[in-house]
Amino acid sequence: MRNRRLTTRRALLLAIPALLLAQPAKPPKVQGPWLDKTLPPDRRADLVIAQMTLDEKIQLVHGTGWGAMRPGSPIPPGSNEGAGFVPGIERLAIPAINLADSAVGVRMGAVESRYATLLPSTLAAAASFDPEAAYLYGSVIGRELRDQGTNMSIGGGVDLIREPRNGRNFEYAGEDPILAGIIVGQLMKGLQAQQVMGDIKHYAFNDQETGRNILNVILDKRAMRETDLLAFQIALKISQAAGVMCSYNKLNGDYACENDYLLNQVLKKEWGFQGWVLSDWGGTHSTTKAALNGLDQEMPGETFFGAPLKKAVESGEVPEARLNDMVHRILRSMFACGVIDNPPVRSVVDPFQGLEDAQHIAEESIVLLKNDAGLLPLNAARVASIALIGSHADVGVLSGGGSAQVDPPGGDAVTHRKGGAGWMRPVWFPSSPLKYIRAKATQATVEYNDGSDPAAAAKLAKASQVAIVFVNQFMSEGRDVATLSLPDKQDALVSAVAAANPHTIVVIESGGPVSMPWIGDVKGVLEAWYPGIGGAQALAAILFGDVNPSAKSPVTFAKTEADLPHPQVPGIDLKPANRPPPFDVPYTEGLKVGYKWFEAEHKQPLFAFAYGLSYTTFAYSALKADGAARTVSFNVKNTGKRAGTEVAQAYVTLPDAAGEPFKRLVAWERVPLKAGESKTVTLKLDPLYLSIFNAEKDGWELVAGDYKALAGPLSSSFRIGQ
Ligand code: BGC
Repeated sequence: MRNRRLTTRRALLLAIPALLLAQPAKPPKVQGPWLDKTLPPDRRADLVIAQMTLDEKIQLVHGTGWGAMRPGSPIPPGSNEGAGFVPGIERLAIPAINLADSAVGVRMGAVESRYATLLPSTLAAAASFDPEAAYLYGSVIGRELRDQGTNMSIGGGVDLIREPRNGRNFEYAGEDPILAGIIVGQLMKGLQAQQVMGDIKHYAFNDQETGRNILNVILDKRAMRETDLLAFQIALKISQAAGVMCSYNKLNGDYACENDYLLNQVLKKEWGFQGWVLSDWGGTHSTTKAALNGLDQEMPGETFFGAPLKKAVESGEVPEARLNDMVHRILRSMFACGVIDNPPVRSVVDPFQGLEDAQHIAEESIVLLKNDAGLLPLNAARVASIALIGSHADVGVLSGGGSAQVDPPGGDAVTHRKGGAGWMRPVWFPSSPLKYIRAKATQATVEYNDGSDPAAAAKLAKASQVAIVFVNQFMSEGRDVATLSLPDKQDALVSAVAAANPHTIVVIESGGPVSMPWIGDVKGVLEAWYPGIGGAQALAAILFGDVNPSAKSPVTFAKTEADLPHPQVPGIDLKPANRPPPFDVPYTEGLKVGYKWFEAEHKQPLFAFAYGLSYTTFAYSALKADGAARTVSFNVKNTGKRAGTEVAQAYVTLPDAAGEPFKRLVAWERVPLKAGESKTVTLKLDPLYLSIFNAEKDGWELVAGDYKALAGPLSSSFRIGQ
């Protein structure tokens, strides 16, 4: 279990008096009715606005940050040097907003010699199918933001995995809108419960990095609403996030940050979003159009929402009421999240608690994809020799690159480069699989080979009882990968080792799904994603059976690129150096994202969505679906010899009239069961998750007719309507 150890080191660290740390100077005492905590946030925001000058309002609707500040330019007072900064208004007691990238942990902690916990990737968190783990994930980030004196996170990526080669998939939460929406919604809820502001991004359809600033996504309304937008809708409803970051790309002809349909019609009008829309870094393209179409804050810089916006307001081109609305949204979110009443106070991040939480989430998110002849878990008392091969498994675990990159403590575990992590450069965190495997396999010799010479690796594997090959795929913001194949000839390495040792297990650290041409030659496969600072400990616990894996893949693993909706990433051939012209990307798969594509097109994946094994087995029986009560119930039994948790899922296929020739995930529950134990599970079906979006009526509708419910291998029909 998650056992908290109070080491001497830890006690010492926690004892550093917070007073020794630099505290911001106390602002002069301000009095004003908006500081009355008993008033609702909207009222308080209006009371402040009534006091504000035009310049103060303009000051709040843009900020500074990386990309806008020239290298060497002075750091604004009060800035934490995170990704973004919006100065406060001292005379009104409105604090500055410090915005930190924090998709998988707080970025740029090293700028101020601070530590931040690297969590498993959010894709990994989605593999847990565990809303509580997601909430914990968010609370770790929220806690550490507070400790670093930062009051806003700009993590919260929920774009769907429409393109499995997208460089940012590790920052997202899979291919299913309901799973992704719930996981990211809970994550942001957990984060905001720490009284910091959160955001959800990149709104919307930033589903690939190739050409992200110039591409124009073409999608019809129904496809939009039932895929990525549904994920945003769910995540926002659960979290009430303060911010929504609009994306770089265009959608149906307009940039996302000036897209009336996305921002005004759907987000604000239909979903009733009360927070503010901030642009992705440099994603603002106009003043009046953006302001009128729903953008509330330009980040960073003041090209459009500085002096030009002031001029547009003065001339009446942008009504002052609209500027007030932008400011209102920002202020009401600050009041609602508590950053004005209870601002973060700098303290010391607790790395031990962070490690424990990160390890727990990793243990729930590592997927067992293959386990022939029950090779896993390894028996620590019996295994005599292990060959550990490849992927720097002697020293660390891999992390994802770009603005989600967390700074590694003590520098990169491989290159030993200290300080802030670079951009698009693989960074290894000091969580050593070799160390933790050795700690478990006390009766075995465990030898490491770096895998650079497949023949030498095979020689070691041949001389060992078991071979564990670590392979990796580095992914980063800013570029997609061209193929699903592992880079650097790692497929050949696995094949060489598997040919030398019949007991070969592969551990994958990847940003998303990869192809596995050697799958038939190995006995075991674990997908560890980017497992975070507790990754090696979690892997060792799973390899040796202290933890029984329960995760399910939140993304389909295709056998080859040829089976994907786009065999090649759209635009990947265009060379950035030639400044390619803007291009359209018709996402022709439309509604059929991920597993829906594979089912509708009758393609067999390598591993299906939600696939994942356990060291025990489960049997399903007695499925009942009730159309009137909107429930599906069934019995799950642990039919194996050890305790385990089954992610019991319900899918539904809609009546033919809906025109959706595939099933949808609609509900699930994690069911912990002892050996032999069984439980009746009743899952509620949310009508939204059963509905289609009727583009003509511009609304959601439940199609009358016969539905089919599925759970495990069982199915049952139910009817809705006449
Ligand atoms: C990314 C955002 C990030 C921002 C600030 C952009 O490049 O797309 O996700 O929050 O930079 O670092």
